[in-house]
Amino acid sequence: MEALVIRGGVPLRGSVRVGGAKNAALPIMAAALLAPGKSTIEEVPQLLDVDTMRGVLESLGSPTSRQGGSIIIDATDISNSEPPYDLVRAMRASFLVIGPLLARSGRVRISLPGGCAIGSRPIDLHLKGLSALGAEIDTGYGRISATADRLTGARVYLDFPSVGATENIMMAATLAQGLTVIENAAQEPEVVDLANFLNAMGAKVRGAGTNLLRIEGVDGLQPTTYTVVPDRIEAGTLMIAAAATRGSLVVENAVPEHMKPISAKLRESGVYVVEGDDGSITVQADSRADGVDVKTMPYPGFPTDLQAQFMAFMCTCSGMSVITETVFENRFMHVAELARMGANIRIDGRSAVIEGQDHLSGAQVRCTDLRAGACLVIAALAARGTTEVSEIHHIDRGYERFEEKLAGAGAIIERVNKG
Ligand code: EPZ
Repeated sequence: MEALVIRGGVPLRGSVRVGGAKNAALPIMAAALLAPGKSTIEEVPQLLDVDTMRGVLESLGSPTSRQGGSIIIDATDISNSEPPYDLVRAMRASFLVIGPLLARSGRVRISLPGGCAIGSRPIDLHLKGLSALGAEIDTGYGRISATADRLTGARVYLDFPSVGATENIMMAATLAQGLTVIENAAQEPEVVDLANFLNAMGAKVRGAGTNLLRIEGVDGLQPTTYTVVPDRIEAGTLMIAAAATRGSLVVENAVPEHMKPISAKLRESGVYVVEGDDGSITVQADSRADGVDVKTMPYPGFPTDLQAQFMAFMCTCSGMSVITETVFENRFMHVAELARMGANIRIDGRSAVIEGQDHLSGAQVRCTDLRAGACLVIAALAARGTTEVSEIHHIDRGYERFEEKLAGAGAIIERVNKG
């Protein structure tokens, strides 16, 4: 079992480069199933979740390989339509193959993804949309069986702008007969990136980035080569780490437009944030910042995937701050671990009330989920003394070479094997 040992109190300085977005690469890898032939996806980070998705695609009969930062997927033949339970259970994004499989081969059997630490994570909106497109869906015994001769375009309203449901329905609609309209669609940059990939394969997706998507079905798609958008959550994590350690860091290869919610909140707390015209963002904080309130919302609101990281920052800001989590029902698992480091946080329903402390103290803490892990690393970087963060496989799911990137900016951090 591995852990990260971090000696805190060192301001991050220098520059660090953001990689490709995990939450764009995963749906794009699934979408490669839609086109017979070899697609090449560039700037795909080396992550456990990417490896899991490769395993899912290979279990369906689509060989994959990695060449540097690129993943090549050969979806010439789909010889199986039932990904193995252990892979689906390991990563709920495996569920993103259901739309492409229904569109490409007309059938899929997949275990229900199940919940995780941050919530029950239902899939009712995915199924509502796919059945609107004409899929016959049976659920039972913890799995879903779906079939469709040929999907037919339909108008779908999403009760919540679910990222995954938008992606699954959009992918299925690319090969449906006629027009599909998705209302109240998710507007996240990763949804836009998927739409761009689909269009590069010959799909006709319009409106990506707005809450109204129109997909004109086509008879077939062609494989393509595509470069994944930079990871706004990795960029935001690094920006927050710079602020929390009162450092001065240049985050390279970001997309400033995607960073607006986090840049605005950092500025509001008194941190200096300036965007270069080369896609870099400089974050500088040489004194104690002020506590600010945050409410997570679907894009373009403040991202739920940066809520835990921002909370770590708020723990040593001056005054009170309130963080409200509106997207997931149980995304405060990191609060108990932060308290072990001396944080003063009170949970009140969907809000956490943080009273800023002069400093946090190093302790032994454990990751409960991916972004909670990033939160604890940030807290440890800012704390006095040494922290040991365990269960770091959660971090390896979503951050490529995390400790190397931080050490490159001056952090005293090392990965140790706890046996
Ligand atoms: C994606 O998950 C991301 N994962 C998540 O990132 C991210 O937190 C989330 O979007 C929100 O931005 C990937 O892209 C692989 P949702 P997804 O469907 O698609 C409810 C990370 O840390 N809902 O937008 O599963 C659901 O319960 C991960 O990288 C339904 O009720 O998120 C949740 O409360 C964590 N019914 C809310 O919507 C449904 O059918 C948002 O879920 C689907 C979702």
